[in-house]
Amino acid sequence: MTDDALQTYDLLREKLHDVLPDFEIRAKAELACRINQLKSDLGAVILGHNYMEPGLYHSVPDFTGDSLELSRLAATADGDPIVFCGVRFMAETAKILSPEKTVLIPSLEAGCSLAASITAEDVRELRERFPGVPVVTYVNTYADIKAESDVCCTSSNALAVIESFNTETVIFLPDEYLARNVARESGKHIIFPTDRPIAKEKQDPHMDYQLLGWHGKCEVHEKFNVEDIENVRRQFPDVVVLAHPECSPEVVEASDFSGSTSAMIRFVEQARSPRYLLLTECSMADNVAAENPDKEMLRLCSVRCPHMNQITLQDTLDSLLQNRYVIDVPEEIRLKAKRAVDRMLEIH
Ligand code: 13P
Ligand code: SF4
Repeated sequence: MTDDALQTYDLLREKLHDVLPDFEIRAKAELACRINQLKSDLGAVILGHNYMEPGLYHSVPDFTGDSLELSRLAATADGDPIVFCGVRFMAETAKILSPEKTVLIPSLEAGCSLAASITAEDVRELRERFPGVPVVTYVNTYADIKAESDVCCTSSNALAVIESFNTETVIFLPDEYLARNVARESGKHIIFPTDRPIAKEKQDPHMDYQLLGWHGKCEVHEKFNVEDIENVRRQFPDVVVLAHPECSPEVVEASDFSGSTSAMIRFVEQARSPRYLLLTECSMADNVAAENPDKEMLRLCSVRCPHMNQITLQDTLDSLLQNRYVIDVPEEIRLKAKRAVDRMLEIH
């Protein structure tokens, strides 16, 4: 091991000795050291989502965060290329905001079940059916969907974005559970236009619903159920349960806190309880455990995001070595999508 690699190993071991076996920490430290050297030679910046595996999360990103934080950073962080250690829709958002920079994603397999659940044609059809009703889309969508939208939102600002409109009704796409959770929180009535046709005369102006939803789901968060929570509470009566708002409303209701990935991280940092269950991608619990050695994280470790998991240190190294995979967004789509993303970033 070189001196630099040894230094990286020491840093990683300090954080991860309770999370990863030592031989894995060593292998990851060597890769991370090469990545950091190359990153500085090239003047690159690496953004890492909170779901990155612990070896990567704690070694190579210049910035880590949730979708909203990383979108803001993508617009302001110095460095070119931007290597996005996250999924494709996040890297696209970075390209939408920083078109002059090269944006790279280490794997082309890093998709998202929510982003795949809706097409631009679906959005156009909804607009035709509900003329004048604003369209809010979750950032977990591809650029062509954002381009058809009035504004984007993330799990940390969904309610504020919806309330920024002075209209009675908003189309909220494509996450069914996030929409139901926002409806629950705000007392709004939600319906799903694909479930039942709405008579034209009932569409406007006397609507008895305020949110029009879509049946997209996160394939990770839909796996959690209330029984899991009840079982864990029986076994560990002092556990504090945190659920991402992409979980079902029943799961969110049975939990003690719900918020974006960064909101969950902050909650655990600030709380005093000894034990937590995070109902979200399981790597994040490893990352939180590494940062909070005095607190115990219970994991439901079979629940992994197969897309986020595609991003490895080896792929990140190859991404920098081979300038791959370059994210491109056609200019016409980018400009329209940027309006929706900019509008979101203006709302606090
Ligand atoms: P956050 O915006 O909370 O980071 O969520 C992103 C995501 O993909 C959750 O599954
Ligand atoms: Fe998409 Fe769910 Fe994976 Fe997040 S966790 S990237 S919403 S599939």
